[in-house]
Amino acid sequence: MSSVPSATALAWAAADPYEAALRAGRGPLFLRRTDGWLLPLEVERWCAGADPVDRDVLDRCEGAVLDVGCGPGRLVAELAARGRAALGIDVSEAAVEHTARLGGQALRRSVFEQLPGEGRWDTVLLMDGNIGIGGDPRALLERVTGLLRPGGLLIAETAPADVDERVRVHITDARATTGDPFPWARLGTRALLRYARGRWERAGQWTAGGRHFAALRSRSSRTTSSSAEPPKRTAVISSQRGRNTSGGRPVADR
Ligand SMILES: C[S@@+](CC[C@H](N)C(=O)[O-])C[C@H]1O[C@@H](n2cnc3c(N)ncnc32)[C@H](O)[C@@H]1O
Repeated sequence: MSSVPSATALAWAAADPYEAALRAGRGPLFLRRTDGWLLPLEVERWCAGADPVDRDVLDRCEGAVLDVGCGPGRLVAELAARGRAALGIDVSEAAVEHTARLGGQALRRSVFEQLPGEGRWDTVLLMDGNIGIGGDPRALLERVTGLLRPGGLLIAETAPADVDERVRVHITDARATTGDPFPWARLGTRALLRYARGRWERAGQWTAGGRHFAALRSRSSRTTSSSAEPPKRTAVISSQRGRNTSGGRPVADR
């Protein structure tokens, strides 16, 4: 874990086009690879409420949920509305503000910084391509292992194609491109399972609405921290304490 924000975190936090798109609730917005290839970012969908595909993902979550790179917070807000303990983290101020406006709890923090409830989260979400954060999937998986309780669940959205790409990108609205390129990764499910081999157990794999997902269960057997404080308390989600710790059904292939 580092206290120095990564290039990816700094780039998203300082990206005016991302900030502007979240505040407007719409794109166009892209990740532009250094060779010019554009990956569209679905800002409208992210700024809308949770859709049926999202809700199915949330049904599979167990216990207290940490949404890494929560963006404008539709998932955290939906979990809060269900009375679930959930925290979003994001490096973007506009994202955290939007999440709070929707009624979700969020912290402006990088996943690679110190976080509440380390080693005690029941589920971590990496949605909408967030497996790309930091541009080093192995390092991100290692970090997520440290956030989850032993046996905790990671649900990750993967790329529709069978890719394993580590790239350098800019965030752009296709008019202006500013700043240095930063590392990002795009992984299909096969590549994710390859990175997960040994440290994770496969807990599910499904496709819905053209989106692809994989669920992995941490095999880590490290003992949790001596503090008995549950993540939902540490994350100051006290209003939801005791209401639900295991609303989701177990993950299974569908
Ligand atoms: C591809 S977008 C996904 C958006 C999101 N899942 C949603 O529902 O809108 C990536 C998100 O991750 C955030 N992010 C990038 N690097 C991060 C980091 N190191 N830690 C936490 N969040 C990060 C960005 O600010 C952005 O909101």
